[in-house]
Amino acid sequence: METKKLILTGDRPTGNLHLGHYVGVLRSRVEQQYTHNQYILVADVQALTDYYETPEMVVENSLEVVKDYLAVGIDPQISTILIQSQIPAIAELTIYYMNLVSVARLERNPTVKSEIMQKGLEKTLPVGFLNYPVSQAADITAFGGELVSGGEDQIPMIEQTNEIVRKFNRIYKTDCLKEASIYLSKIPRLVGIDGKSKASKSQNNAIFLSDSPEVIKEKVFTMFTDPDHIKVGDPGRVEGNVVFTYLDAFHDDRDEISSLAAKYRKGGLGDTVLKSLLNDVLQKLLQPIREKRYLLTRKQILDVCYDGTLRARRVSDIVLANVRSAMGIDFFDKTKIN
Ligand code: TRP
Repeated sequence: METKKLILTGDRPTGNLHLGHYVGVLRSRVEQQYTHNQYILVADVQALTDYYETPEMVVENSLEVVKDYLAVGIDPQISTILIQSQIPAIAELTIYYMNLVSVARLERNPTVKSEIMQKGLEKTLPVGFLNYPVSQAADITAFGGELVSGGEDQIPMIEQTNEIVRKFNRIYKTDCLKEASIYLSKIPRLVGIDGKSKASKSQNNAIFLSDSPEVIKEKVFTMFTDPDHIKVGDPGRVEGNVVFTYLDAFHDDRDEISSLAAKYRKGGLGDTVLKSLLNDVLQKLLQPIREKRYLLTRKQILDVCYDGTLRARRVSDIVLANVRSAMGIDFFDKTKIN
């Protein structure tokens, strides 16, 4: 029997998920769950490295994110959805790995470096924040993740993980930890409705999976198009025009998009017509997702998290036992304490 590869993916629960997540990762997770043994980690501990002052918000966001997963078609029977903070082995592995990484190495991590700058943490950097790549190495190795799916910003995390794996195996003369490879999401990041930067909650330029029909319409109609396309008859630009970017990402009828693009370039196609089409496309996509979200109860979400976390713990406890045994710090008889 061919065994499926273990693929690990995850999100920091910092808010509801939006169309950027949908095209970037959610759609591929729905497909991947049939071809891989997929673990989806709700990285609440990692979110706390930013939001340690408001843990209640991190908890709420975690449940909302899981709601989004289920609403887009991630099947909790097939995928293992788990809550990071509820896996003790991750915290323990982090502690052992911290000895193998220098502060200077963490400071050189390009993803961490740009986050420190963005957040203005140069002078007040919490140890927990600087250390999150080590904690992520624990996430990845705790389940024997062979593939880690994510965007390019995750590449430095995987490099860091593999350095730790090699160093651990070398020092403790073992091969119990395995290196992981990136499974890059093919689709580039979705631009925000303002056309300025990628869609994100913090930029307030994203359409959320939970948005009401009215809000979706309102957002579509404020989308950035071509500022020089003033009269309907004027020739318009398609490149950098957010409505076209979204039609490309969400409208199945390629032929219709090309003929609309040709007409727009020539002149004679108004923004309102285009926006109405996009609005129809998005309403059709998001209506069933929103309805499914609405029907899910808190109890159902918690049950899904509990089941997945329990399944994941069985795997991570074995990895942790192997790690301790490789280090020779398994003091007691495993049948009595573990
Ligand atoms: N760093 C990821 C992000 O910011 C979230 C994450 C945490 C993750 N642990 C992970 C992703 C393990 C993949 C595997 O989105």
